[in-house]
Amino acid sequence: MELPLASWARQLQPSAIQDMLQNITKPGILSLALGLPAAELFPTQGMAEAAARVLADQASALQYGASLLPLREQVVALMARRGVRCEPDQIFLTTGGQQGMSLLARLMLEPGQPVMMEDRIYSGFQQVLEPFQPRRVVVRTDPRTGIDVDAVEERLRAGEKPAFLYAMSDAHNPLGVSLAQRQRERLAALAREYRMPIIEDDAYGFLQYEEQSLAPIRGHEDRWVFYVGSFSKILAPALRVGWLVVPREMIPRLATMKESSDIDTTTFTMRMINAFLASGQFETHLERLRGAYRERRDAMLRALEAHMPRGTVWARPSAGMFVWVELPEGADTLKLLAKSLELEKVAYLPGQAFSVPGGRSAANGMRLNFSNCEPARIEEGVARLGRVLQRG
Ligand SMILES: Cc1ncc(COP(=O)(O)O)c(C=O)c1O
Repeated sequence: MELPLASWARQLQPSAIQDMLQNITKPGILSLALGLPAAELFPTQGMAEAAARVLADQASALQYGASLLPLREQVVALMARRGVRCEPDQIFLTTGGQQGMSLLARLMLEPGQPVMMEDRIYSGFQQVLEPFQPRRVVVRTDPRTGIDVDAVEERLRAGEKPAFLYAMSDAHNPLGVSLAQRQRERLAALAREYRMPIIEDDAYGFLQYEEQSLAPIRGHEDRWVFYVGSFSKILAPALRVGWLVVPREMIPRLATMKESSDIDTTTFTMRMINAFLASGQFETHLERLRGAYRERRDAMLRALEAHMPRGTVWARPSAGMFVWVELPEGADTLKLLAKSLELEKVAYLPGQAFSVPGGRSAANGMRLNFSNCEPARIEEGVARLGRVLQRG
């Protein structure tokens, strides 16, 4: 039956990659593919106590409800730890970071308008853009240095006027790279000079493994940078709570747009997160998470050193959940995934899942996740992958 769909939705067909992804979650597959946090590190005890307190105190926790001010105040304190100064009336709570980006795109983008992005990006952001069929203005990015800021500047100088630039300054998905201070400052300055909004996706920004971390771009520019945060990776994704830091005049429009989508962010989870943060356990929880993920990152880097064939390259991420591995030019990691699944029962995400129409091919890249497996499983997974690659 021909479905009565809008023209953009008619093009939404499952891709070869989506078909393949069906296979990576099958039992018996050692998966380094998805960006899942470690379930055994969820603070279930603290959450259970927070949930019980919230329910005992307030039946209204199960009611429709407004955006929770105490939680916005907690977010302001979290943002201060990231080097960002803001006020509770600049915080908009969302049903996850994904909804935050989707609402911003709906408010800021006209169909067919240009959007600037790197040539490898988080596929969920491409999905956000789909209904608008934007013209993609694609700039190069690099697994070691990140977005090519010179290229951004060149395009702007040449007269390009994107509705916004989508960027990640820390723990880029899929590349794992974090930007240098100078790049953050330059992007902030370009946003100001060219009046170009930046949607800054900071999904992994709190998962830092080195002593020093840098403020996101929003820390250098408060008017033109629209910051997207999330509790998914630092508490749990099933809570579905994230936030935006935006100019306060934007909030009423965001609220109207959100209401049309899901009425409100779940009152119960907002209060539960607030109670958990207020209990003072978050600090210890985050430290534990960072310690465990740092260990897993190091296990993955050691395993890559031990098992990858010559000609394979990767960089050391200072934050986040991913290592991006590149095989020699001409390799096809989507084809190789079929072999990996069949011969060694190991999965990763092929580079093509992150490539952008009109940009360079990412077919020789693969994204490996290190947060979801314990070090011994990571070592085993990378060893299996090494055997697939050695076979050629
Ligand atoms: C880069 C990036 N941004 C945003 C999200 C959305 O996360 P959530 O909606 O769970 O906050 C994800 C999830 O994996 C992500 O990887």
